[in-house]
Amino acid sequence: MTNTCKYSNNYSSSYFKRMKFFAIFLLSITYAALNGQISTISSPGNIVTLTFSMNPDGQPQYSILYKGKEVIQNSTLGVLFAEGKMVNGLLVTGMDTTSYNDKWTPVLGEVKTIQNNYKQLVVKLMDNGDKPKEMSIIFRVFDDGVGFRYHFPFQKNLAHFVVTDELSRFHLTGDHKAWWIPADYDTNEYTYSTSRLSEVNAKKQSDLHLEIGVRKVVDEYGVQTPLMMKTAEGLYINIHEAALVNYPAIQLHVDKINHELSSSLVPDTYGNKAYLQAPFSTPWRTIIISDKSTDILSSKLILNLNEPCKIKDISWVKPCKMIGIWWEMHVGKSTWDYAGTQDMHSWENLSNLKPTGKHGATTANTKRYIDFAAKNGFDGVLVEGWNVGWEDWNGKWKEDVFDFITPYPDYDVKELSAYAASKKIKIIMHHETSGSVTNYERWMDKAYSFMKENGYDAVKTGYVGKIIPRGEHHDGQWMVNHYNRVAAKTAEQKIMVDMHEPVRPTGMNRTYPNWFANEAARGNEFNAWSTGNPPEHETILPFTRLMGGPMDYTPGIFQIKLEKYGKKDNYVHTTLAKQLALYVTMYSPLQMAADLPENYEAQPDAFKFIRDVAVDWDDTKIIEAEPGDFITIARKAKRSKKWFVGAITDENSRVATVPLDFLDKGSNYVITIYKDASDAHWFKNPMAYRIEKFLVDSGSTLNIPLVEGGGFAASVIPATQTNIKGLKKYE
Ligand code: NOJ
Ligand code: CA
Repeated sequence: MTNTCKYSNNYSSSYFKRMKFFAIFLLSITYAALNGQISTISSPGNIVTLTFSMNPDGQPQYSILYKGKEVIQNSTLGVLFAEGKMVNGLLVTGMDTTSYNDKWTPVLGEVKTIQNNYKQLVVKLMDNGDKPKEMSIIFRVFDDGVGFRYHFPFQKNLAHFVVTDELSRFHLTGDHKAWWIPADYDTNEYTYSTSRLSEVNAKKQSDLHLEIGVRKVVDEYGVQTPLMMKTAEGLYINIHEAALVNYPAIQLHVDKINHELSSSLVPDTYGNKAYLQAPFSTPWRTIIISDKSTDILSSKLILNLNEPCKIKDISWVKPCKMIGIWWEMHVGKSTWDYAGTQDMHSWENLSNLKPTGKHGATTANTKRYIDFAAKNGFDGVLVEGWNVGWEDWNGKWKEDVFDFITPYPDYDVKELSAYAASKKIKIIMHHETSGSVTNYERWMDKAYSFMKENGYDAVKTGYVGKIIPRGEHHDGQWMVNHYNRVAAKTAEQKIMVDMHEPVRPTGMNRTYPNWFANEAARGNEFNAWSTGNPPEHETILPFTRLMGGPMDYTPGIFQIKLEKYGKKDNYVHTTLAKQLALYVTMYSPLQMAADLPENYEAQPDAFKFIRDVAVDWDDTKIIEAEPGDFITIARKAKRSKKWFVGAITDENSRVATVPLDFLDKGSNYVITIYKDASDAHWFKNPMAYRIEKFLVDSGSTLNIPLVEGGGFAASVIPATQTNIKGLKKYE
């Protein structure tokens, strides 16, 4: 008999068999010990405790305590593949605990530095089938919550694979109050419902929003994240995800009886969730917890779970305050299209186009906006409707709808580039894809080169309508990869990017700070042409959508009632003072003064706040907040001693109380307060405001009445010999 064992020179094969048996025996003892083991780790300040264990079916599970109280009961974890599963019958093959504590500096942000301090537990798992597969679950435990993700190391038995489902569960302790929008695969542009989890009715809610033509709500009990919840004991819980890369967005299915949420991933056209290649790590599932609502808003957990900045030279990454040829189309004063809605897919032959005379993006009008921007200290002018194709966009589902480089005949790119440069103003490019993303992918390189050649260094993209390729969804893996590719490609070209209608953000602005804003929720624009946003809307967004990153909400509408444009049924659902406050309460390093220049010229005193307010910050104090009710925030401008304060309320009046103890002790400041007139009201009298000036210091406390749907804004600037003249102390 030929012995093929390569060690046969030294050892007999029976010796090897015995050794192998012994090794397996030892491993089994270790595995048994590991599998019986319950591993508990606490956050650095001992506030949050995570316990990991294996249930009797060999399923991994975790639970979470906050200050000793249960927040998440034992909840199982696992992933299903087309090629098998890592769900039950699993063995723990290793556990490792580490700590991390460091500071980092965001390129653009709400604060100057961010502390990243957590304890980490890595649990290695193996299934004991014929073709064993490996997976780890990584938990990070912070003082304000937990993040966990699955990791698939490089391995023979799981090299290329298809995720058909992720089975992450969040077993809550009760039927919590929730602020939610339905589990739609294509749009997040909903108003929020507030109800017990057991009352979630996603389909009904989506039917109320026929304004949006792309809805696909399959799960009647499904909600989108960030999901904000509050327990009967007053604990705040927010569930979302961080670092959404090469994977679909997570949605949550509500088990109404057991109060358990489970992950449900946005599918592709075949019902598959993700096509992967190991090594791969899924996005982090995030659970932010606090007994203070204000700490939910100041949490940096999601940013901390994202990768550091990938851009080496960040000198060109800049915040931006802009105006735009934009609202005038939304209110119907002008149009995006040049030739009306005639079907003119033959725009190759531009001379065939008959102008309607209502086109907004003309050379003359753009110059008017550039002049206004230059006069008032803005950085940029967004111009929508400059390129051919608008006669053929939304709803037609046409593949080659835009080319992103051909202007309409009345928009002179070269002349406007030179004009903008002479006024030190940047024109912001607009790329509406009309959902035809294959087309955009085809044009992207040329479109970005065209921008660079003409001096544009920021772009607003848009994904209105159904996605081409057909069957893909805005929030599926294919589109997630597209958004991330746009962020990376624009970064290479030193272009800032703001996306409208993308998947809701997950803190990727840490990694790509050029991706400085997103819409990804129901913006102010809905007030122009739909039932609008109720007065509570802006008090919920920071607790939901903005948990993942900055929002291009487009505040600053002064002409609140739109009957001026013949739109009797449309109006903004806030007071004018609240529109000002939104520049502070709705964080974004890209802010738009969304109204028309003539409406600002009519109210120069109130407009001063928009001119003055900063868009990038060294510090942020969340002073008071309750989702659905009110938010008051103070922020310190970047590299400056100036502070700006914003307070907003829902449909109820209230008094905002703001201790100014964040100001430098012993220094005097001049505060300018832009507040609701006493008889103002978001519907009955929205444009009535008062402006007052006082002297304040760190011992002052503001008490400012906000009317129904109202708010106040304030600038607080260091006192000088000249600016204090005639001012009284605030009492
Ligand atoms: C929807 C966007 O949210 C809006 O800002 C834009 O003006 C239109 N699409 C047209 O692209
Ligand atoms: Ca939109």
